Amino acid sequence: MHMTTTAVIYHSACGHTERAARAAFEGAAELGNAKLIAVETIERHWDVLDDADAMIFACPTYMGNVSAAFKTFMDATGGRWIEQRWRDKIGAGLTNSGAASGDKLQTLLALVVFAAQHGMVWVGSDTMHDRATGLNRAGSYVGVMTESSDAPVSVDNPPAEDLETARRLGRRVAAWAGRLRNADHDAA
Ligand SMILES: Cc1cc2nc3c(=O)[nH]c(=O)nc-3n(C[C@H](O)[C@H](O)[C@H](O)COP(=O)(O)O)c2cc1C
Repeated sequence: MHMTTTAVIYHSACGHTERAARAAFEGAAELGNAKLIAVETIERHWDVLDDADAMIFACPTYMGNVSAAFKTFMDATGGRWIEQRWRDKIGAGLTNSGAASGDKLQTLLALVVFAAQHGMVWVGSDTMHDRATGLNRAGSYVGVMTESSDAPVSVDNPPAEDLETARRLGRRVAAWAGRLRNADHDAA
């Protein structure tokens, strides 16, 4: 069976989103190949995205939306959009912000629309909101929201429960990438 590849492409100015992106990468790596790509290095890594079965988009929420650095990446995909080169790849998203809400939903919806424009198939988070464990404490299902409470990045920030929620998204995305690839194989 062919191993699938999930690429996690992220922007992180201060390291919080990077920790969440890394957790998603580790979750994806449990079930297939995974790549972790900082958006600043994208010019060296377009081929990784083009060849990937799935992508997880990860960025901080700035002014209630994707950060400018991430939007620069999004806009740079215009040529690929025209060719629909990423059609039928799986897409998913996560965002970190300082506040509990911080209007993070707007960021995730921007990522959903971006994926839809590319003809990608969106996979949300299936981790249930659980007050006891803190998993998916934001109660977000369209994608993963992590919260850094306006405090510096540390081993506890974003907290472990947020990172676990992100790890589960990565694993789920890789699982769906495998299912989709097998379905393609069966149809061929
Ligand atoms: C220009 C700017 C805008 C921001 N806007 C928001 C916001 O709308 N909501 C929020 O909760 N936090 C906001 N923040 C805080 C960031 O979300 C937070 O610093 C970031 O997620 C940390 O992630 P990073 O360490 O990966 O850079 C903003 C920060 C900056 C610098």
